[in-house]
Amino acid sequence: MKLVLLGADGQLGWDLRRALAPLGQLLALSRTMEGGDLSCMTDMARTIRQFYPDVIVNAAAYTAVDLAESQPEVAHAINGRAPGELAEIACGLGAWLVHYSTDYVFDGSGNTPWRETDAPRPLNVYGESKLEGEQAIRESGCRHLIFRTSWVFGRRGNNFIRTILRLADERDFMRIVDDQIGAPTGAALLADASAHAIRTAAHRPGVNGLYNLAASGETSWYDYARFIIDIAEKQGIRLKLSARGISPVTTAEYPTPAIRPLNSRLDTHRFTETFDLRLPPWESGVASTVTELLDGRSC
Ligand SMILES: NC(=O)c1ccc[n+]([C@@H]2O[C@H](COP(=O)([O-])OP(=O)(O)OC[C@H]3O[C@@H](n4cnc5c(N)ncnc54)[C@H](OP(=O)(O)O)[C@@H]3O)[C@@H](O)[C@H]2O)c1
Repeated sequence: MKLVLLGADGQLGWDLRRALAPLGQLLALSRTMEGGDLSCMTDMARTIRQFYPDVIVNAAAYTAVDLAESQPEVAHAINGRAPGELAEIACGLGAWLVHYSTDYVFDGSGNTPWRETDAPRPLNVYGESKLEGEQAIRESGCRHLIFRTSWVFGRRGNNFIRTILRLADERDFMRIVDDQIGAPTGAALLADASAHAIRTAAHRPGVNGLYNLAASGETSWYDYARFIIDIAEKQGIRLKLSARGISPVTTAEYPTPAIRPLNSRLDTHRFTETFDLRLPPWESGVASTVTELLDGRSC
């Protein structure tokens, strides 16, 4: 099997390098490499066609949720139009396109987990642009796997765990939003589950479609932050911030340029049943990543 990976230096891309490598010949492209920039589709198309992959995995995206409010053109170009062009390339090659989307396609109403069949209604530019990308892929008719995920963290790149650990060294008090609910999902879990799904798709083309893919369980950003500090404390790491120093605030009390959905729960039954996998609780992935990030740090 030949695979092209786009966005190979991102949080997810970094773990996909590892998880996809055993599947076959892997061409891993990051934005700065020849043919790796989604805003230069002519170069990218040439690079992909020359390689002639069986699978194109797109982990690249414009992920600056707040900045997207003031840069809607860029967000729509990278998250909306480029995936549609990738889908055209995949169609022409008869390749699969694996793509990632977000809980932010939903408006966050209610408190039940969103299903793939629920009507999306994004609240912000990032969500709109990601929805545009999903729709372009689905309308193209190419064979695809689209995974909607949430609250991604990894060992690399910027994410909530790194931010909390950094701020915990600097402050003894922090206010964190308590009314947005979702499941922190590890890039490693996403990458391993993607590799399994790609293997399955190779001999069961009927699995083509859209899936929610996130760790099991749910939490708020506030409880998530306390969990991170708790793990660090249990390891004897000395921080300025203790779990008691974190206080809850509502989304309304903490305005940001982009409106965030309150309910980011994703129903993952379609994924687990189709691919016969179990998605572990969010706590296990977060605990191991916190431990890895703190590894080597003195107490
Ligand atoms: N992070 C989350 O919480 C979250 C939640 C739900 C869904 N998702 C989705 O999950 C996927 C992976 O996200 P992630 O967390 O791994 O994001 P990430 O760490 O921000 O990685 C995205 C990668 O895309 C690259 N990129 C940006 N613009 C590009 C362009 N024009 N051409 C090529 N590459 C470009 C970035 O490169 P630079 O670093 O050079 O900009 C970065 O390496 C994305 O589809 C995202 O929308 C993420």
